[in-house]
Amino acid sequence: MSESPVIDLPAGLQLRMLQDGDIDSIDSLHRLVTRSLDESVVRPVSKDYFARILQDNGAIAGLEADGLLVAYGALQCKLDEYDGASFLEGRTQPGLQLYKLAGSSVHPDWRGMRLQRRLIDFRCRLAIGVQGVFATVSPDNPASLSNFLGCGFQVEALRRVYSGVMRFVLFKSLPAEALPVPEQGECRMVPLNKIDEHVHLLASGWIGDALGQGGRMLRYRVAPGQVQSMGRGNSCRRSDLS
Ligand SMILES: CC(C)(COP(=O)(O)OP(=O)(O)OC[C@H]1O[C@@H](n2cnc3c(N)ncnc32)[C@H](O)[C@@H]1OP(=O)(O)O)[C@@H](O)C(=O)NCCC(=O)NCCS
Repeated sequence: MSESPVIDLPAGLQLRMLQDGDIDSIDSLHRLVTRSLDESVVRPVSKDYFARILQDNGAIAGLEADGLLVAYGALQCKLDEYDGASFLEGRTQPGLQLYKLAGSSVHPDWRGMRLQRRLIDFRCRLAIGVQGVFATVSPDNPASLSNFLGCGFQVEALRRVYSGVMRFVLFKSLPAEALPVPEQGECRMVPLNKIDEHVHLLASGWIGDALGQGGRMLRYRVAPGQVQSMGRGNSCRRSDLS
């Protein structure tokens, strides 16, 4: 990992790399935000999960206001089968070295300030020396999906992971490359809850790159000349992205 990069923050917030002594604050924030969410949307994890990352397996960046933790983002460096580098199998070159963006939360009082996006960008900049980063996001979590797509991640797969929940697998190559698909290319809009249609398009080589229609649909594109199925989603127009 690199030395801590500098990022722009709203007034009153400080960024700090969290340590073992911060586990209780991380756990409290995690429990606060997951309390109101179904377990299928954000998987609840234990203090041990955060402790393992902090001890020898990555880093957790925190944003604090007056010494209180209001947001965090975890970066995981060593991946086992459960954490799923294999989630991207067939979508990236074999053997690609990857880190995982392994969880983030923003306190409800601090939402709408792009704090998750700032923590995503920050962790990508920490991930020096690997070829890419990935994350998993539930199809029922449009806010997080919107933030990852806004930071240049692309939906590469939709898989049943962890203890059997559906997750989009989002990937970003590092250093960031230009999107491999042109703005003018053919595209499809698929409602987030149409799981079969996502699976079908992804299996045919399409890539999800933006949300549209108020966050209800994922836009898919395909590289020109790539062998592809026409897919079953609707063709999209510029106005779909509003
Ligand atoms: C996901 C989370 C970290 C985002 O917090 P945040 O950085 O404050 O982000 P916001 O709530 O402002 O939303 C980000 C974007 O999603 C959009 N959005 C929010 N809710 C939305 C919804 N229900 N449908 C569609 N879009 C939505 C916002 O308009 C915003 O878009 P913009 O950046 O283009 O303006 C926060 O909601 C959270 O802690 N959720 C619970 C834990 C979680 O889901 N963690 C991520 C697991 S992958």
